[in-house]
Amino acid sequence: MLNLRDWEEAARARLDSMAWGYYASGARDQITLSENQAAFRRIALHYKVMVDVSKRSTATTVLGTPVSTPILVAPTAFHKLAHPEGEIATAKGASAADTVMVLSTLSNTDMEPVVAASNRPVWFQLYIYKDRGATRALVERAEAAGCEALVVTVDAPLLGTREQDVKNRFRLPDGLGVRNMQAAGYDAMDTPSMDSGLAEYVKRCLDQALTWADIDWLRSITRLPVIVKGIVRADDARRAADHGAQGVVVSNHGGRQLDTSPATISVLPAIADAVGDRVDVLLDGGIRRGTDVIKALAYGAKAVLIGRPILWGLTVDGADGVARVLAQLTGEVDQAMALCGCPTIADIGRDLVVP
Ligand code: FNR
Ligand code: LAC
Repeated sequence: MLNLRDWEEAARARLDSMAWGYYASGARDQITLSENQAAFRRIALHYKVMVDVSKRSTATTVLGTPVSTPILVAPTAFHKLAHPEGEIATAKGASAADTVMVLSTLSNTDMEPVVAASNRPVWFQLYIYKDRGATRALVERAEAAGCEALVVTVDAPLLGTREQDVKNRFRLPDGLGVRNMQAAGYDAMDTPSMDSGLAEYVKRCLDQALTWADIDWLRSITRLPVIVKGIVRADDARRAADHGAQGVVVSNHGGRQLDTSPATISVLPAIADAVGDRVDVLLDGGIRRGTDVIKALAYGAKAVLIGRPILWGLTVDGADGVARVLAQLTGEVDQAMALCGCPTIADIGRDLVVP
């Protein structure tokens, strides 16, 4: 396993076609899915020389939380399709790598044991349900469980069409459900008729009427910091900050929602310029190399998140696989920092990408 592509191939060989299709797919023609990675390849790193890089550190902070690496675990649904230990294994792996895990609302494991399995901060990714009572109960549970931030996802009023999932009539195997929503009665994913079962679930349960006022509502019911995930425009980032968000995630949902939406790295500079002094700007989508991480930080991201590579590590080797994926990518970041003449994360500035 030399790189994340090796992990991906190993995971592909182990997963059944329904799970692989769900994890790997992007929306429609998958143009954004591939552009997320392609856009990184088009950026050159203008390295500095003759800087003492004999002592280096990849440590940084996100929302004031210290982490050993600028790479966080993105929220992804249904980890028991990858490994029987599911989200518990992911939490152990993230914790071993000394970084933050963002736990999806749509996990196959209740949030409490996931938080308990980690000795590092866990943030909770929130989907806002039409049923506001159930949503509020979820937020209260996340607070009580010890989650340290809410990451509210705003790019999914409905699910983008992943055509492989439609062909497969994607559904969860018997025994797996949306555990966090069991008490509210929204644990069972629909038995699909014509579509992906998840698309039908999202249509039935999630609120398509969300507006910025709902960020105010969310803030009124929680003391946790709120991070808005799924932003690709500077004006939306400003609105998020105006409504009290403490962070934004520049994200197109890994190319799974609106196909032909822009590659995240291409919109990061404008967003970082607009709000970087007010909120922590994070980015995800297509990060597969340490140099991708450097480029995101150079354009103003405080940290990045990885989605699919975590699922590949989890599939291949559970908690250990997750920890090794994070360690390997962090090792690439460390090497690139040395070669860029940047011994600390604070040294990574825009001069590396715009000389
Ligand atoms: C996701 N993503 C996601 N986002 C979210 O806010 N809640 C969720 O439940 C999920 N579920 C999910 C499942 C799977 C299988 C994938 C691949 C992605 C999106 C995720 O947080 C992130 O934005 C992307 O995965 C980042 O792109 P990469 O790193 O996968 O290229
Ligand atoms: C997805 C949803 C669950 O991308 O966020 O599949």
